[in-house]
Amino acid sequence: MNIIAGPASQLLAGRVSEEMGGNLLVTEFKKFPDGELYTRILDGFEDPGIVTIIQSTVSDSDFVALLQLIDACYEASNINVVIPYMGYARQDKRFKSGEPISARAMAGAIKADNVYTVNIHEESILDYFDARAVNLDATPVIGRYIKNMEFENPLIVAPDISATPLARNASVSLGIDYDFLEKTRLSGESVTISPKNVDVKGRDVIIIDDLISTGGTMAEAISLLGEQGASGVFVACVHPVLANNAVIKLFKSGVKGIIATDTIDKGVSVASVAPVIASALCHP
Ligand code: R5P
Repeated sequence: MNIIAGPASQLLAGRVSEEMGGNLLVTEFKKFPDGELYTRILDGFEDPGIVTIIQSTVSDSDFVALLQLIDACYEASNINVVIPYMGYARQDKRFKSGEPISARAMAGAIKADNVYTVNIHEESILDYFDARAVNLDATPVIGRYIKNMEFENPLIVAPDISATPLARNASVSLGIDYDFLEKTRLSGESVTISPKNVDVKGRDVIIIDDLISTGGTMAEAISLLGEQGASGVFVACVHPVLANNAVIKLFKSGVKGIIATDTIDKGVSVASVAPVIASALCHP
């Protein structure tokens, strides 16, 4: 299988290729003077056969590069597209009249035989792809990473009930406890936020979410858990978007460490989703 690494997913594509013994093709990316992108698959592309394009769409230009790579593979017998992190997935509904469903617009433009996403923000987005679309779960990879670190009586916590499946999947079969943060209204003016079932005193707590963008959600949870006596508060996410000064915000709130996967290649991307993607490609 030919594997084509988009500009946003070079490291991950290399790792996937290593895992499954794929043929990693070299691709040229550059910008024209007017800012338009130029993309070209360089080697061994006369008879493309089955191709897998791996490209996260963190920025708008990442999305354009993905569309260009798909078009460059027009003659391939089979096109797999792996979008490890899919941008615009949070606009999965029309929240106000006049808005687009951006996730539908993005998905509709992707022409392929198979599409693989990783912990996409909402699974219902998969229905917007014309292709067969599969969402992969990277949280067990994070769970194993946590298990191998020397945490003190670790507890994995979701920042809200909707993220509970992430906490459960990261901890299941590893013998690590999990819980979620719940908001309780005490009066008209005051609310408390604390883990629903478990006392965090003296424990290392790892808050897990699908993504960290501005860091606002995590920063609030880190401060609260610190005040409630956790010995150390860490954060984990599948997609380290980490926009603007998110990292600084996390440290100012007292985070002890940041754990993320390589769906987006950042300094905190310590746990690789390559085995998860390789396994899905090998056993479709
Ligand atoms: C929300 O639905 C997501 O799961 C994340 O909790 C959210 O997008 C994180 O955003 P931020 O880092 O900007 O608080």
